[in-house]
Amino acid sequence: MPRLLKFNIFRYNPQDSESAPHTDEFVVEETDAMTLFIALNRIREEQDSSLQFDFCCRAGICGACGMVINGRPGLACHTRTSDLSTEITLMPLPVFKLVGDLSVDTGTWFRKMYDKTESWIHTKRVFKDNELEERMDNKVAEDIYELDRCIECGCCVAACGTARLRDDFMGAVALNRIARFMVDPRDKRSERNYYEIIGNDMGIFGCMGLLACEDVCPKHLPLQNQLGFLRRKMGIAAIKNLFRK
Ligand code: SF4
Ligand code: SF4
Ligand code: FES
Repeated sequence: MPRLLKFNIFRYNPQDSESAPHTDEFVVEETDAMTLFIALNRIREEQDSSLQFDFCCRAGICGACGMVINGRPGLACHTRTSDLSTEITLMPLPVFKLVGDLSVDTGTWFRKMYDKTESWIHTKRVFKDNELEERMDNKVAEDIYELDRCIECGCCVAACGTARLRDDFMGAVALNRIARFMVDPRDKRSERNYYEIIGNDMGIFGCMGLLACEDVCPKHLPLQNQLGFLRRKMGIAAIKNLFRK
């Protein structure tokens, strides 16, 4: 006998002055291997075509389907209904601007984050398209790749107490991004350059270290290790700065 799933879904359209935040209830019959992606599409196709939510890849790659699932940020396409109780509450990710219902604008937040962290390779070397590709040590390439696996879903930001209290806090995703450039030998920024970006309350010293970010990251990025690494590095840089003054 298939289970009947009761969904309580947040509804609000900030573009519509008549709209007020509330939840709507939908009941869906569970099918084999059902994910929240499948359930939400069934609701939209069969019960309410106005329901807003985001998806692109359905495979945990694009990062578009982040939402708060029974109180915990996660990817809807990676969440099987069989892992949840029959009552499921879906809310949009906090911190990001609400587009409508479960859809949020993560793009604007991430663009600002990339600007703040100067998220590109800083080098004076001029690119020559007729040169052979430069070799990179395998271990270094793997370390960079490991940190580059972030899909920008925003779940770690939504789970972060500091990011929810302060909109200038960069969040674990930005700090992970900085750690990625620090291990990249092509980026010629000095420790002092990095300190200017993250050696403050908006960066690593604003982090409370409770690690909700690592708990919810669907790609299992080693955020705890990176936050510890940056805290040590930037702590040493702070002491060096004291002696420079
Ligand atoms: S460990 Fe730091 S970045 Fe992660 S959730 Fe806590 S405050 Fe946010
Ligand atoms: S670090 Fe993890 S949780 Fe945060 S945006 Fe990247 S993939 Fe999502
Ligand atoms: S739809 Fe792309 S990560 Fe879920």
